[in-house]
Amino acid sequence: GDTKVPMSLLEKGAYINYQRIEDNLVVVRERLRRPLTLSEKILYGHLDDPHGQDIERGVSYLKLRPDACSDTGIVVLSAVCVPMALVGVKLFASSPGVPIFPPQRVTDHFSAPQRVACQDATAQMALLQFMSAGMPTAAVPTTVHCDHLIEAQVGGVKDLARAISINKEVYDFLATATAKYGLGFWKPGSGIIHQIILENYAFPGGLMIGTDSHTPNAGGLGMIACGVGGADAVDVMADIPWELKCPKVIGVNLTGKISGWTTPKVPHTDLEKDVILKVAGILTVKGGTGAIVEYKGPGVESLSCTGMATICNMGAEIGATTSMFPFNSRMVDYLNATKRPDIAKYATQFAHNLKADENAEYDQVIEINLSELEPHINGPFTPDLATPISLFASEVKKNGWPDELKVALIGSCTNSSYEDMSRSASIAKEAASHGIELKSKFTITPGSEQVRATIERDGQIGVFEEVGGVVLANACGPCIGQWDRKDVEKGVANSIITSYNRNFTGRNDANPATHAFVASPDIVTAMAFSGSLSFNPLTDSLTGSDGKPFKFSDPTGNELPPRGYDPGEDTFQPPPSDRASVQVAVDPKSDRLQLLKPFQPFSGEPKDLPILIKVKGKCTTDHISAGGPWLKYRGHLENISQNCLIGAINSENGEANNVKNQLTGEWGGVPKVAAQYREKGVKWVVIGDSNYGEGSSREHAALEPRFLGGLAIIVRSFARIHETNLKKQGMLALTFVEPADYDKIQPSDRVDIEGLDSFAPGKNLTLVAKHEDGSKDEIALAHSFNEGQIAWFKAGSALNLMATKAKG
Ligand code: F3S
Repeated sequence: GDTKVPMSLLEKGAYINYQRIEDNLVVVRERLRRPLTLSEKILYGHLDDPHGQDIERGVSYLKLRPDACSDTGIVVLSAVCVPMALVGVKLFASSPGVPIFPPQRVTDHFSAPQRVACQDATAQMALLQFMSAGMPTAAVPTTVHCDHLIEAQVGGVKDLARAISINKEVYDFLATATAKYGLGFWKPGSGIIHQIILENYAFPGGLMIGTDSHTPNAGGLGMIACGVGGADAVDVMADIPWELKCPKVIGVNLTGKISGWTTPKVPHTDLEKDVILKVAGILTVKGGTGAIVEYKGPGVESLSCTGMATICNMGAEIGATTSMFPFNSRMVDYLNATKRPDIAKYATQFAHNLKADENAEYDQVIEINLSELEPHINGPFTPDLATPISLFASEVKKNGWPDELKVALIGSCTNSSYEDMSRSASIAKEAASHGIELKSKFTITPGSEQVRATIERDGQIGVFEEVGGVVLANACGPCIGQWDRKDVEKGVANSIITSYNRNFTGRNDANPATHAFVASPDIVTAMAFSGSLSFNPLTDSLTGSDGKPFKFSDPTGNELPPRGYDPGEDTFQPPPSDRASVQVAVDPKSDRLQLLKPFQPFSGEPKDLPILIKVKGKCTTDHISAGGPWLKYRGHLENISQNCLIGAINSENGEANNVKNQLTGEWGGVPKVAAQYREKGVKWVVIGDSNYGEGSSREHAALEPRFLGGLAIIVRSFARIHETNLKKQGMLALTFVEPADYDKIQPSDRVDIEGLDSFAPGKNLTLVAKHEDGSKDEIALAHSFNEGQIAWFKAGSALNLMATKAKG
């Protein structure tokens, strides 16, 4: 069309194309003849082939294409959009699912932004992989954000300076690689990826992927934003249509209205956080698997845009593909406040495509009445253990959770909007005015330099610092375990409460005995002044310095800064115009960065494979590839593989990181035994339980077992991202047809995998488990490989296949 609205003020030549969604939907509606949900409209509006694509929720794989004309590539463009479907079919309609890599940069003439965002921990491996695919430039607008590697120690300024010196080689690599391949680079100190995306890049009806599990945050601005592994990001950067299993749709119907926390009926705090804490309690960490969660109903208008982002962000905790909200007036307000009125206007014209049809069908509907919603506190150890605040004190007692609250932490990517910070500041100010001091340590993490500069200018930071709060760097910090915590010894049981999103064991401080709870920033802040988990700020009193009882009143705060945002320091590096002369910095002696060597293609028959470990119970990506101190080896596969599965519990002895080498009979750490098998040329398998690989999107959790010589991961069920990541790296991701068959397998078994000679979509494989006593079990294994993914497996990895095609 003629309307050219840039997707972002920071990028020239990439435009939003709502007309394409409209046109695609005409075709799709004609075929499906039923009302569509919001996410269906956006997804089907991005179909590569709206005419021929199979569309069945929960079943088909959608091939999705970018949505606008772009002249961001190396070729100067005319302003005319070539219809994507036409060109797309020519280039990509070979055998189903097998991506054909375009030999030249033909795609610059029509290629378009399906945006990619990477944080610095995942970007290292993604860029290393992209480099080995042999392409000169990234095909879609991509940004890299330095937020994960900054350790919280004493406070923002010093912590940032220290991180810049410690991580210099990584930042230099990222700065030069992004410059070389045409990506935007957000320097350390700029803020947390999801906040920067919301402020600068998200828009209603867009489609993006990000190499971080909380990418769905952008759903607060009506975007479909999915967390993926670095390997998916590499695909999209290489202009290959992105495949997504057609998601089911869970509708969350919001009715009623917010009330203040001291109103008599149901007291309230931060509405949005409580919505998602409640939803997490209902759906649990598995309930959203394979589904997009769509919010709807009259209650939507009572949520702020940044609050909707909080809800979508934490949708990752229920395993959802993503979460999203319909386009509404609060999004318009936020777009205007972040200087994007043109997007707001353009979206308004196409608003009919940015909300669900009436009578659209959902696979499941959850009703939440906001007027009856009570504040919740979730945890410990899992984000779906939701307790209404009125029952929390008795739960603390009943379960023997440590009552003393050691640290209260607000902010992070989840809850650091201007509104969140303002409300927390109002609570702190009120406490201070009654002479009440902090009883717990209290930290504040602004989500971006823009938020930090704005709340510094408007006085909230002053309030926090006056009461003794510590303002940390604009970075992930304790949220991802980058926390040099000194107040409690490792192993000592203690409680902390955060306004973050995730609280798996050891996530924040690497202490498995820390009981981490999650609540709204309002609750977290108020609790910091009582120092006790049993304190209910809605009903209980503290004693003021005048000896009189004092109760917190309703927190208050502006949704958006009345004087506009203060951009703060300029921390963005756009790609330079001369990219040819840029040298990518990788020191061959580095212990943090290592260029990749391709994996071997599949060959031979898998027979008599030992079981490296039969994992018992929960096995998240943190168990498979631990974060914390290991983050610094993200760009060095050999070094980081030393953490492979060290957190997983061995069913044989109930211990972590202690398995028997079946060749020698000796016991040792998991990575060590795996390497011993590899040295002997013996491939191995892992047996796992339900929702294996839940948690983050890190592809290291797949790269490491592959690097150490693993062939198959066989489990009761997978978390989506991890399953795909395994496939990308050339691993077999298999599930028991009968989940109970998990119990038939003994850790000392040797196994054969049969059926790979005729490996095909939808066709089961067989596991022959040969027990020590000479008996055998034949066990049916299912898989979700499509043809394209089978080609990855045979080639040794998706990247191998891409590189072969690139060479032509
Ligand atoms: Fe993730 Fe927390 Fe950072 S959820 S993006 S680690 S602030």
